[in-house]
Amino acid sequence: MTIFERSSEGRSAYTLPDEESYGFAPEENLPDHLLRKDKASLPECSELDVVRHYTSLAGKNHSVDKGFYPLGSCTMKYNPKLNEKTASLEGFAYLHPYQPISTLQGSLELMYKLDKLLCEITGMDSFSLQPAAGAHGELLGMLIVKKHFEKLGDSNRAKVIVPDSAHGTNPASAVMAGYEIVEVKSSSDGIVDLNELEELLDESVAAIMLTNPNTLGLFEKHICEIAERAHQKGILLYYDGANLNAIMGKIKPGEMGFDIVHLNLHKTFSTPHGMGGPGSGPVGVKKSLADLLPVPRVEEADGKFTLNEDYPDSVGRMRSFFGNFGVLVRAYTYISLMGAQGLRHASEMAVLNANYLKSLLTRMIPEGYPGVCKHEFVLDGGKLVSEYGIKTLDLAKRMLDYGVHPPTVYFPLIVNEALMIEPPETESKEALDSYAEIVKKILQEARDDVEMVKTAPHNVGTRRLNEALASRQLKTRWQKESAT
Ligand SMILES: Cc1ncc(COP(=O)(O)O)c(C=O)c1O
Repeated sequence: MTIFERSSEGRSAYTLPDEESYGFAPEENLPDHLLRKDKASLPECSELDVVRHYTSLAGKNHSVDKGFYPLGSCTMKYNPKLNEKTASLEGFAYLHPYQPISTLQGSLELMYKLDKLLCEITGMDSFSLQPAAGAHGELLGMLIVKKHFEKLGDSNRAKVIVPDSAHGTNPASAVMAGYEIVEVKSSSDGIVDLNELEELLDESVAAIMLTNPNTLGLFEKHICEIAERAHQKGILLYYDGANLNAIMGKIKPGEMGFDIVHLNLHKTFSTPHGMGGPGSGPVGVKKSLADLLPVPRVEEADGKFTLNEDYPDSVGRMRSFFGNFGVLVRAYTYISLMGAQGLRHASEMAVLNANYLKSLLTRMIPEGYPGVCKHEFVLDGGKLVSEYGIKTLDLAKRMLDYGVHPPTVYFPLIVNEALMIEPPETESKEALDSYAEIVKKILQEARDDVEMVKTAPHNVGTRRLNEALASRQLKTRWQKESAT
């Protein structure tokens, strides 16, 4: 039931002070031309109606707190509740960015220390916390690449190399920064084909963007050779850190030879995300590129924190004020709570869970690429079509009826009918077993009643949408005419 359907004329959840106790009627302060002529068509509900409305809306949304959420590439981590507690401390939650610096010292200190922690975790020398998402970080990274070559007076570097397995934001960000994309193919074992890459490396290339482990969940084991060969030609190596959660505490991108990295705090460092934000995509660089980072930069001298704008080579400002500050508080809390050992353990559990679930699921659906994976793996759904008469999408939709979230589907593009599965590190063996059981049941259902699977979901709020139509004629609000 929508809030409009709960509405009853004259019911209300608020009271305004009357003229007598207030001294004047509130609308007296508004100029005439701003006053409504007609009554606003808003629902008229009691406080309890409103509470029930939002509680029911929240229940409709799938979340990590509600159920299993192995959405590959998205790292739907459990978000410890302590993160929320610190982010809602009054001193953080009620800050105003225009407050005098002397009253922002605690927040600046948190940003300064988070920068140092991220340097330690990644092996980089300096971070900017401004970018509001991974893709935003990538754009900053590419602008830094651009500025680097501008400073060197090298105007021939027009290309950025991106693997065919890369997340779509990588080429998009490089194009936004003005680069031409050159795709490098993956080899049959799912990692960058070194020979093919070698052919592409010359003085027209500005950067190589790599994710490690890559989006197939496979570690780019030739990374040191790639870095060496790139650097020999003056090419910068960019690390898409969206998958850092598989290797934290084990190996640092800085030690693999990367010059620039972005991290997704909303994934690896456990701050809530989904449905578009808010996120945070800090960018870290090696010392030689540090002067190009955005301003203002938080600095410390004699125990006092300041904002320094005095970096003439900086690419400028990437975002208003200090980025998504609440996300920074949550990430700082998570890192402090976990400590070095805890972070390493989280990576180990992510890899263990992925390999365990992979071993269960590959008994039913073939793997996209062979071998031990890192925190996620990709299955080849071709067999679903040939043996069960269903598509990957049908399996995914039917999973919703079982109260679990489907994997990412049809990505990466290089795997047929791809299912990309990333079980969070906090899931128990029972949860993983139960997910595999659900897949088994659905495959049996496909044998018994294929139409039922092809028309799923059946038990959730919305039936299967025509996705093309839904994305072109998006209905984001309730309209009276359509209420029946
Ligand atoms: C490998 C990879 N790179 C980059 C991104 C982009 O990050 P964001 O969604 O925060 O912009 C994602 C997001 O899923 C990703 O998985």
